[in-house]
Order: sequence, then C-alpha cells, then structure tokens
Amino acid sequence: MRKRLLWAAAGIGLLLLLSGCAPEATQDTLQPQGPYAEKLKDLFIPVFWVAVFVFIVVEGGIVWIAIRYRHRKGRERIPAQVHGNTRLEIGWTIAPALILAGVMVPTVATIWDLARKPPDDAINVTVRGLQWWWDFEYTDDDMRTSYGDGASIRAADVLVIPEDRVIYLSLEGAGGGIGGDAEARDYMVIHSFWIPELAGKQDVVPGRTNHILMQADHPGMYEGQCAEFCGLQHGRMLVRVRALAAEDWEAWVENQKQASVAPTGLAREGMDLFLEPLSDGRGSCVTCHAVGGTDATAPAGPDLTHFADPTHECFAGCNWETSDRDALEAWLRNPDAVKLGSKMPDYHLSEDEIDALVAYLYSLK
Ligand code: CUA
Repeated sequence: MRKRLLWAAAGIGLLLLLSGCAPEATQDTLQPQGPYAEKLKDLFIPVFWVAVFVFIVVEGGIVWIAIRYRHRKGRERIPAQVHGNTRLEIGWTIAPALILAGVMVPTVATIWDLARKPPDDAINVTVRGLQWWWDFEYTDDDMRTSYGDGASIRAADVLVIPEDRVIYLSLEGAGGGIGGDAEARDYMVIHSFWIPELAGKQDVVPGRTNHILMQADHPGMYEGQCAEFCGLQHGRMLVRVRALAAEDWEAWVENQKQASVAPTGLAREGMDLFLEPLSDGRGSCVTCHAVGGTDATAPAGPDLTHFADPTHECFAGCNWETSDRDALEAWLRNPDAVKLGSKMPDYHLSEDEIDALVAYLYSLK
C-alpha cells in the first residue's frame, strides 16, 4: 500500500515536472530575444546553479542524517546528545554569508544596469494597465498625429516597436482611468507588465510611474500577459509586442499619424452609428472610444483609429484575433457574455447594427 502511494506520488510529480516543458514556448525567459532579457538570463543561470548546490548540500545532509541515525530494532537508548560545536557554528554562519555575498555582486550590478537612463534615441512609450487590456501612448515629439492638435499616437493590445532600438517604457496604473474619469475606483488595481523574451517583469501601480527598458533583436511577435492578479479577467489580460524592421516601422508610424478615412456604404452606416448616440437612449460608443479625425475623442477605452491595421492582430485584451469576424460580432453583441465583468457595456445592438459597426471597424486601417 505504502509502496503504491509512493509510486503514485512520484508519477504525479514527474507529470507536473514534464507539464512545464514546451518546445516553442512564447513566454520563455530562458530564450531572450533582446539585450535586456539577456542580462536577466545571464544573472539567473549562475544564481540557479548556486541554489542547486545549496539544495543538494542541505537536503542531502538531512537525508543522510535521517538514514544514518534512524531508529533500529534493538537500539532503544537515545544516542549521545551533543550541544554546541564552535567550529561548526562559525562554519555554517560564514559559509552562507559568503555564498550570499557572492550572489549579491552580480545581482546588484544587474539591477543598476537595468535601472540606467535610456539613451537619447530611445523611443518613449507610456504603458497603462486597465481592466483588462493594455494601452500604449507614444509620447515622443516625432510621434504626434496629424489630427486632434497633434495628439500622441495611441494603440491598444499590441505594442508595436522597431527592432534594434531601445524602448523606454513608463508604466502607469491608470488609477482614475485614462483622463481621470469618475469610475476611478474600478481601476485602482495593480497590474504587472511582462514580455518574458524582451524584458523583466514590472508592476504597474496606480499613482506612480515605473520604468523598464526593452529591446528586440529581431522583427517578430513576442507575447506576454498581466502578471499581477487584477480582478475577474486577470488571466485574459494578454498583450503582444510586434517588432518591425526599420522600414516597416517607418511606414507604420506614418500610417498611425494619419486620421481615419470616412468610409462609404455599410461601413459609413456603421460610422454614423458609432458617432451618434444609439436610439432609445442605449448609449454611445464615443463615451469611451476615440477615432482620430472624427468627433470621437474619449480616452477611456481603446483608441480605435487604426483598429484594422495588420499590426493590431488582436483585440479586447488580445483574447481574440482581430481578423476573427465571429469573435468581433460576439464581442459587440454582448461583451459580458464572452468576457464576464468587461467594462464594455452591452448596448443591445441589433444584428444589422452589429454588421454595420463591424464593417466600420474593419475600414479603420
Ligand atoms: Cu491586469 Cu492582472
């Protein structure tokens, strides 16, 4: 019986261990894709082996002593009790202190290294954590749009960056919501921004600004997700970073600077629905959303100016692909039904209204 339990426990342990294996994990700190993530790995590996050494010495000692001095039949008396051994005590005080001091040197060096001021040509992006999606604002002067008195480029869900450039992220918990709206308390939660292949994890705290440096060595897509419990849909607060080659980046910036183009046909009907309050006092999209070049300028929800740009691969906290029309329709039909607790209201849209709004959203390239 005991043997079987032991085998079962070993089997479950092995299964748990194997479940951590994935050949192409997209959120793998051990496969850094940029210099800052590389520095973290360079610290992690030696510290890991030091920890392995300490583990083997300590646990090995415990197991050895437990076996060596275990109770045996016919040995009823308690063995000699030893109190105090000055040499041993000094030894086990000094040895850990030396090991910790050895670990501290590269740790502190890495902390200082990562806390450096960014180079002058770094790209500045303010990252805001909301329930449950990420908002990105490009705050540099050369990232101003041609509309809205030169407002900064804003994007949601996918952070687009150029390869081989330092990105300086300013992380703000959107306490009070973007633009300080009245439902402030809803947003007073801590998130944590983490793209494991590109940079370390950093908390996003209302009322303060944290910074991290990020850089991608190659064009590509890097995934992350909120790493601090922030409410019902914390597990679906995903994010992607799309790194572009230099010329693609320039084209992206040029496009982002442009206002949306008023569409025709069904999409035009959708635009009218979007900009006007819906019938029967159901509400209005423009209460929360902005579309550059229109009267929609509210900052509370994702900026939709370039919703259908190919880099905006996913929406609503990256839970669905933007190209997934069924998912987009379901989202508009009743956001709460597909993402419980979402701040996007259910406006009881008719299927015709949904078709028109989807056509409009897909026209926003
Ligand atoms: Cu945001 Cu967890």
